[in-house]
Amino acid sequence: MTRTLLITGCSTGIGSCCARGMKARGWRVFATARKEADIARLKDDGVESLYLDYTEPDSIAAALADVLAASGGRLDALFNNGAYAQPGAVEDLPMAAMREQFEANFFGWHDLTRQVVPVMRRQGHGRIVNNSSVLGLIAIGFRGAYTATKFALEGYCDTLRIELAGTGIHVATIEPGPIESRLGQNAALAARRHIDMENSVHRDYYKHRFARLEQGIGNTRGQLGPQAVLKVLVHACESARPRTHYHVTRPTRMAAAARRLLPARLLHAALARAGRS
Ligand SMILES: NC(=O)c1ccc[n+]([C@@H]2O[C@H](COP(=O)([O-])OP(=O)(O)OC[C@H]3O[C@@H](n4cnc5c(N)ncnc54)[C@H](OP(=O)(O)O)[C@@H]3O)[C@@H](O)[C@H]2O)c1
Repeated sequence: MTRTLLITGCSTGIGSCCARGMKARGWRVFATARKEADIARLKDDGVESLYLDYTEPDSIAAALADVLAASGGRLDALFNNGAYAQPGAVEDLPMAAMREQFEANFFGWHDLTRQVVPVMRRQGHGRIVNNSSVLGLIAIGFRGAYTATKFALEGYCDTLRIELAGTGIHVATIEPGPIESRLGQNAALAARRHIDMENSVHRDYYKHRFARLEQGIGNTRGQLGPQAVLKVLVHACESARPRTHYHVTRPTRMAAAARRLLPARLLHAALARAGRS
């Protein structure tokens, strides 16, 4: 029987690559996006596609209902992936920015996951894969909102894994480091939307940093293509013994090791330098 997979955030970057890549491996992929044009493009490429915005609970319920209607009630794997990165120093983040960030990157993921777990319990198996980040392992400056959602996600997934032990449902997190995508450009939009640059003590940093983000210039040291995430998603969905965590890229593996080995003061001094880049 063809296995079914629901992936969110498939307009660009990792989601787009994984939707097409998993379909090519024989999975029946349901890929979600938010813009009509993106949904149409996915459909043109032969990927079943529907609308889902994590900040709209009705769209989550409707998308899952459509998937289950099409698959005869079966969902073998869920890849929570759609998210964005709200930049800005913690002291400059208005409440609205923080709330929006958690709606998109955390609460919406919980909403969908909570509705998928009973489906997987009924069928006696399933894979829940969540796209976290190297910033779910370590923190750097000016990424407080995004980092908070990814740290929350790590704790959430560890808890869920414990609670689902023995049910046949496996929970994995993927921690990508720098991956080629539109994350930087989308972060620049979020920055312009919410950060009052002119009146911030960090004005000079923002001018430099946000202009670079808009031009798609990020820190590309150790960056890989989205295929690197596809590779571990395949393992998380297909292996008989999926891992709990997948550290993708060298910077992520180095960050994970540094967190284990370095005293907090040394680690934070090193990360303070990284946050300024
Ligand atoms: N690229 C990296 O270096 C990197 C590193 C660590 C972790 N990640 C994680 O990888 C995942 C994918 O990001 P990406 O790098 O592929 O970036 P991307 O190219 O910007 O793609 C993000 C996707 O998420 C969607 N999205 C944004 N807000 C959403 C919402 N409220 N509801 C549903 N979907 C939403 C976007 O849709 P629209 O096009 O409609 O905005 C887009 O399809 C994210 O979870 C991100 O945190 C990426």
